[in-house]
Amino acid sequence: MIRNPMVILLIAKDQNDVIAQATLEYSKEDVSKTAHVGVLGIVVHPSYQNLGLGTQMFLVLEDIAKEVGLLKLEIACIEKNQRALHVYEKKLNYFREGCRRKNIKLKDGTFSDLILLGKFLAPL
Ligand SMILES: CC(C)(COP(=O)(O)OP(=O)(O)OC[C@H]1O[C@@H](n2cnc3c(N)ncnc32)[C@H](O)[C@@H]1OP(=O)(O)O)[C@@H](O)C(=O)NCCC(=O)NCCS
Repeated sequence: MIRNPMVILLIAKDQNDVIAQATLEYSKEDVSKTAHVGVLGIVVHPSYQNLGLGTQMFLVLEDIAKEVGLLKLEIACIEKNQRALHVYEKKLNYFREGCRRKNIKLKDGTFSDLILLGKFLAPL
């Protein structure tokens, strides 16, 4: 859990419609032992997926993360979400660093692992 969280919200619009949003969450408390880590989240409207938008929004958030002094970014992704994993691992060079087994219960009653991914923004 992030203590005293700061959230940066990035919105993409087509005319007046919001078509995607991405978040960067991190701790405002320098004393926190994980204050150097930011956590990402994203959703792109289905009609606008596979157009490069998600990748571009993450790159913008990565730049902002560097500007505010973060050294590492993390994101969690359902194992069945192959498109998201492709974006994170193949396009943005995130590495797998963990797996929460059967952490997600899907609507059909089956369970999915939650893959934990990370990326360093500077040498540590
Ligand atoms: C996952 C998500 C954020 C990606 O954003 P996006 O704008 O669609 O992604 P991009 O267009 O930048 O890139 C999509 C890539 O996935 C690939 N892809 C599409 N479907 C795929 C699949 N089933 N398996 C593997 N790769 C797939 C595309 O070919 C493309 O890669 P390429 O450029 O190398 O060809 C977006 O699809 C989304 O919001 N999905 C629903 C919500 C969600 O899953 N959020 C993330 C939760 S962790």
